[in-house]
Amino acid sequence: MKTRFICRKPGPKSVKIIERDRKVISPSLTREYSLVFKKAKGCYIWDADNRKYLDFTAGVSVMNIGHSNPVIQQALQQQIKLASHAAFSDFYAELPVKFVEYLLTFLPRHLNKAFLSNSGTEAVEAAYKLARWHTNKKWVIAFKPSFHGRTMGSLSLTNAKPVQKERFGPFLPVKHALYPYCYRCPFGNKEHDACTNLYLDVLEQKILECNKNLAGIFMEPIAGEPGYIVPPKDFVQGVRELCDKHDILLCDDEVQAGCYRTGKFLAIENFGVKPDIVSLSKAIGGGIPLGATVANEKIMDWIPGSHANTFGGNLLACAAGIATLKFMREKKLGRNAIKIGNYMMKRLEKMKEEYEIIGDVRGMGLMIGIEIVKDKKSKDYGIKERSDILCKASEKGLLMLPAGTSSIRICPPLILTKEQADLGLDIFEDSVKEIC
Ligand SMILES: Cc1ncc(COP(=O)(O)O)c(C=O)c1O
Repeated sequence: MKTRFICRKPGPKSVKIIERDRKVISPSLTREYSLVFKKAKGCYIWDADNRKYLDFTAGVSVMNIGHSNPVIQQALQQQIKLASHAAFSDFYAELPVKFVEYLLTFLPRHLNKAFLSNSGTEAVEAAYKLARWHTNKKWVIAFKPSFHGRTMGSLSLTNAKPVQKERFGPFLPVKHALYPYCYRCPFGNKEHDACTNLYLDVLEQKILECNKNLAGIFMEPIAGEPGYIVPPKDFVQGVRELCDKHDILLCDDEVQAGCYRTGKFLAIENFGVKPDIVSLSKAIGGGIPLGATVANEKIMDWIPGSHANTFGGNLLACAAGIATLKFMREKKLGRNAIKIGNYMMKRLEKMKEEYEIIGDVRGMGLMIGIEIVKDKKSKDYGIKERSDILCKASEKGLLMLPAGTSSIRICPPLILTKEQADLGLDIFEDSVKEIC
């Protein structure tokens, strides 16, 4: 079968690799355009044909400290001479302990114990099992839309695109409440923040339906995959109040929004809310697979054998994790995320006024969503327009990712400079102009 390419046909080396990929790699993956990754440095990526791109994706919010960061290379080189794997669920080792001790210094004080894993879905899965273990209750509540991963526990929580769940049920006992999506308010309100109480009423109704058999509420402080949707502050605070009122756990999924992407180490800190269980992954390993589920010792009370894994506490991952966290703190990446993020938001807000297909601009720090519509009045999803913008931008040397039905997400490495931000936004604006 002849290979079809998304956007324009890539260079000859890339074409060959894509053809080999089609033969042996699972077709379940989604690729937005035909980029064949070869190497990367800082905020730039080169493809197999040596074309250079500015990266506004950070490997889906993973490379917050920038690509090929020398601190990770050094940490890995040093550790691999000693050992790479210590079977941490069977033996003791210092490095994973050191990593967790250091990680805890970034978190609110009450979070003082961690379970280590390798990915976001595992970090959420562990939070889910811990919530059920600790409370010994059956139900949990998550939100619609939300994305928490694709293994069966976290997939049961996920409620984003139908294709992610089709044919995989039956799922675990999860009820879904409405996540505030102010741009498309189901209650018809025009003003942001105006309907927090209505969303909280829906949530409390779900809580009551669980008949006191409810372990916890899982929430993303900013809904990532569904389109970088930012909830009103008083909604997130209201969720915390409902958790306290009904004696249930607030399980905070920081897999995408955490690690200074929004300016604070945990995105939920922007809302002045303390979570009971936190799931972290993506950026925490600086590109090496690493996940952590963190809670207070009173909540993390499960017994030996109740949860473990082979690779959690992997020595290379922990060495990379320590180097990553150190770099983030020393280089004050949270501050840069706010500074550059605010600057980009201002420019994007101006573009919103100017271009009919930019319906909404939202975000915090360097977690920015742009919702593309057919026109401002109808707010019809601009699905084709979004794809065209992504393609045009990639042809001009800027990589961005889709999120939700018709949004574009901007999540560059947090080391992004103002000049790089301007370069990327110029390309984005040119692409929008061409589509308009
Ligand atoms: C908020 C959130 N939770 C969980 C996950 C799952 O992470 P992973 O793909 O590493 O399993 C993701 C992935 O995008 C995510 O954005």
